Amino acid sequence: MIANRSSGKQGFALAQVALDLGADVTLVTGPVHLSAPVGAHRIDVTTATEMRDAVLSAIEGTDALLMAAAVADFRPVETVKSKIKRRKGLPEVQLESTDDILGLVTSHSDAPKVVVGFAAESQDMIDNARAKLEEKGLDMIVANDITAADSGFAVDTNRVTLIQADGVIEELPLLSKIEVAEEIMERVVKLLGIGD
Ligand code: CTP
Repeated sequence: MIANRSSGKQGFALAQVALDLGADVTLVTGPVHLSAPVGAHRIDVTTATEMRDAVLSAIEGTDALLMAAAVADFRPVETVKSKIKRRKGLPEVQLESTDDILGLVTSHSDAPKVVVGFAAESQDMIDNARAKLEEKGLDMIVANDITAADSGFAVDTNRVTLIQADGVIEELPLLSKIEVAEEIMERVVKLLGIGD
């Protein structure tokens, strides 16, 4: 398999905060070592294709999709059931692209009213994140610099910049992932027009 070090913490924090706000929450997750917040409907997947299918069937009638998953962009063309023997020499692994799940969602007739993406960047964060927001047709993108030690994969804190489709850019300080989720959900509620 091809995987990454994403812990799932930011996605689970979003599920928790959305539940606390009274939302019905479906949590589609890859293999992570976390317990789902009580009240969330958890769907476990192991591949990008399974995640695509789970997300596309869960979005019907939903208000918002928050796509914090670090989905693999490539998968091996061939998978093998038996061990690859060393004596056969160095294998060549050919890759193919996985589907861009967010791209499929935003072009879908059942697209949620608000779609939020994440942008894990290691350079030119704002420009790259803004390009993703436009290409994927998002309402907001949460950009983070994954090269910073206190932000991004596997830690409990995150330093993110929120970029909205209307051009508003907000740089948030170092926060816990729960606090980041609260900031994100506050804006989602406003975008849905259901805040007081
Ligand atoms: N995403 C997705 N499907 C994929 C890959 C990513 O839906 N196959 C989503 C992620 O969940 C995230 C957003 O797209 O919300 C951006 O993901 P990211 O990995 O930062 O960007 P990519 O589109 O994969 O572009 P690149 O890896 O080239 O930066």
